[in-house]
This record gives sequence, C-alpha cells and structure tokens, in this order.
Amino acid sequence: MFTAEVSFLYKQPGKIKEGSIVPKNDRISVSVIKRLPRYYRFLGELSQQGIERISSRELSDRMKLTASQIRQDLNCFGGFGQQGYGYNVAELRGEIGRILGVDRQFGTIIIGAGNLGRAIAAHINFSTRGCRLTAIFDIDPALNGRQVGELTVRPMTALEDFCREERPLAAVLCIPKSETQQVADQLTRLGIRAIWNFSHYDLSGYEGMIVENVHLGDSLLTLTYGLNSLIPRSEHHEIERKYLIRRPTDDELSAVNGIKRTDIVQTYLSVPENGARRRVRKRGTDSAGWTYTYTEKTDVSFGDRIENEREISRSEYESLIKESSPDRPPIVKSRYVFDYRGQFFELDIYDFSDEYATLEIELESIGDEVFLPPYINVVRDVTGDKRYNNSELARTRSLIP
Ligand code: NAI
Repeated sequence: MFTAEVSFLYKQPGKIKEGSIVPKNDRISVSVIKRLPRYYRFLGELSQQGIERISSRELSDRMKLTASQIRQDLNCFGGFGQQGYGYNVAELRGEIGRILGVDRQFGTIIIGAGNLGRAIAAHINFSTRGCRLTAIFDIDPALNGRQVGELTVRPMTALEDFCREERPLAAVLCIPKSETQQVADQLTRLGIRAIWNFSHYDLSGYEGMIVENVHLGDSLLTLTYGLNSLIPRSEHHEIERKYLIRRPTDDELSAVNGIKRTDIVQTYLSVPENGARRRVRKRGTDSAGWTYTYTEKTDVSFGDRIENEREISRSEYESLIKESSPDRPPIVKSRYVFDYRGQFFELDIYDFSDEYATLEIELESIGDEVFLPPYINVVRDVTGDKRYNNSELARTRSLIP
C-alpha cells in the first residue's frame, strides 16, 4: 500500500517528445495509479494474443471495470483512445509502461536472504518492471557467498560501500519486523528512495521516500472475507463426544432405565461433483413403522459444515438407494437412547461388530464434563476421529479398538 500520500506528483522523465502523452493534470489519484499495473498486465496479454486494437467496452468486459471508468482513468493522461477506433493495444501499453517507468532500470537491492528474500529474488522479474536487481545482503555470516540466482549474498558490512559505488535507489526488505526500522533508517542515509517492505512492520514518515508495505496475509484476509460473505455459517453447530465402548449385552441394555431402541439403515450415495456427502436413512421399527430422510453435508471449513436434511417418501428412498456408493455397503445398526444424570446418550450397535459399539453425547459447550454410566465400559475417547464416522465405517466395517 502506498503510504501517507494521497496523490503523486507525476513528472515526465527527461524531455517531453513531440506527440508523447502529457498528463492533463499533474496530480493523479492513487486509485488510478493503483489500476495502471493491471491495465499494463492486461494489455500485455492482449498483445501476446495478437490483438491490435480494443474498444473501451471490450477492455471493460475483460477487466471487469466500467467502460466509463476506463475512459476516465486513461483521460488523466491525456486520453489514448480514438472515437470509433478504440485503443491501439501496443501503443497504449507502451504509454502506460512509460508512465509506470517500466523502461527505466532502477538499481534495486534485497535485504534479507532468508526464505522470502530468496523466493523474491528467484521469482519476481524485476527488469520487466523498471528495476534491476543488483545485490542481496544478509546479516547472517553463514549465508555470505551463497548463490541466489545470479547474485551472491553479501554481508551487511558491505552495504555502505556498495551503495556509495552503485547508487541503488530501491530496496526490498525481507527481514524480521524488529530489524526493519533500523535498517530502513540506514537505507535512507545511503540514498535509497523507495522501499518494497515485506517485513510486517508498517514503515511510514520518511520524507521523500516511496514505501510500499506488502502484507500477503491482508490479501488472504480479503479472500476470507469474500468466502465468509459467500458461504453461510452452519446454524446448527454440534459439540459432541464419542466413545468406543465394549458392546453391552442385550440383558445389560434392557436393564437400563427408560432405554429406547430404533433400527437404522444408513446408505451412502455416490459423491457428486460439489463433493457433498449424501446419505439416505431408514429409521424406526417394524412395529412402529419407518421414516425416511435424505441428508446432504458439505464441509465449509474445519469443523464447520452445512447440513441439509429432509424427510423423503419411501419411494424416493427406494429410488435414491440405487445411487448407493458401491464401496460403502449400508450401515445397519440399532440405536439405543437413554438419559443418565440429565445427559442424553446415543449408543449404536453395528451388525458387523460383536465386540464393540459407540456411544455419543451432545454437549452444551466444549468444557462440559461428561458423566458416564457405570455399566458403560469405555475403550477410548474417539471424538473427532474420522475412522469412526459412519461413512467411514461403511467402508471399513471395523471398529478398531
Ligand atoms: P527468514 O528468517 O527465512 O529470513 C530472514 C533473514 O533476514 C535471515 O536470513 C536473517 O539472517 C536476515 N536478517 C535478520 N536481521 C537482519 C538485518 N538486520 N540485516 C540484514 N539481514 C537480516 O524469514 P523469511 O521467511 O524470509 O521472512 C522474512 C520476513 O518477511 C519476516 O519478517 C516475515 O514475517 C516476513 N514475511 C512477510 C510476508 C508478507 O506478506 N509481507 C510473507 C512472508 C514473510
């Protein structure tokens, strides 16, 4: 981000050639300047595709800006377009490039040859962006002499002499936050006029210095904000505990006060392109009758998912089970529900395991204490262990102790 200045004094470098573009007014807003690199990049792509001219409408469609915005932006520099002709891509790109200064070769150094410094040296093409990368410095003696692309890491003690001789104008800071202020002060004294600052310390207040503070994390947050607006939070957030237990005998179960049993057949359907997990469930008993439900779950973030469940008719159920996932035979289980000390438990007994069963309890909040009944023999807490999800058990058919 540009620092305190709200606009830039735009000056033509050197003499103004006849017929070249002269800005209408010397002060150009930061937002226009900010859009120029994008124009430049788009026009470069158009050029590569062999497109020679483009109307402001077409350019606006591609860049997702309004045509009038584009006309206004480019008018700041005297207007490049011609009525009924549009813009000459190469000419416009050339002029924007010249306004940006990509044809200059400002001497640039990197301070900090750690992970980021090396990545920037290797992956950013400085020379097509008006800068010439001439040196990389680091305070760590172990990095001295190490090759980074075509450059050799120099010690910080060599910085002063280097700057006196080579007169670089720009520096890229890839050093820890705690070092930034002091290094920036030193760079100012050594004639550096622009800092591309990655070090998570917002530099400001340097007279006559251009500072561009970069925070990739901020850009990621913009993305998160977008997702947060796009994807609804699940309304129902379950906090549950799940235990693998020894399978109680029928006698033990029937002795539990108020216990109720239902039978469940759960069939997992093939996964559609959006990755949603689909399941149909038949629940009830032969004597009381059956209800059928369809559930679709989509993970939206870790531990958060959107769950849609609706009751379906028996015939809908029967047609949906035809889409069952071939590697996941239906889960057939008996669910026993009961209360113990004011807590509500669900105990599932699966047709494929004589030895083990699972027990679940839903909690009000994460720190709630669970009181387990004495007749429950816990093997271990398997909360959050995906191997005990029913969709996984349908595949493995094994309650691993
Ligand atoms: P790193 O630890 O790999 O590299 C830092 C380098 O700076 C080391 O080689 C160290 O010897 C050198 N250094 C320390 N003090 C110095 C000084 N006074 N003069 C010259 N060199 C000095 O760290 P990494 O991963 O390269 O990150 C560098 C900085 O960039 C960190 O502050 C990190 O938080 C930040 N960063 C910022 C990002 C952003 O989006 N702005 C993204 C990633 C990292």
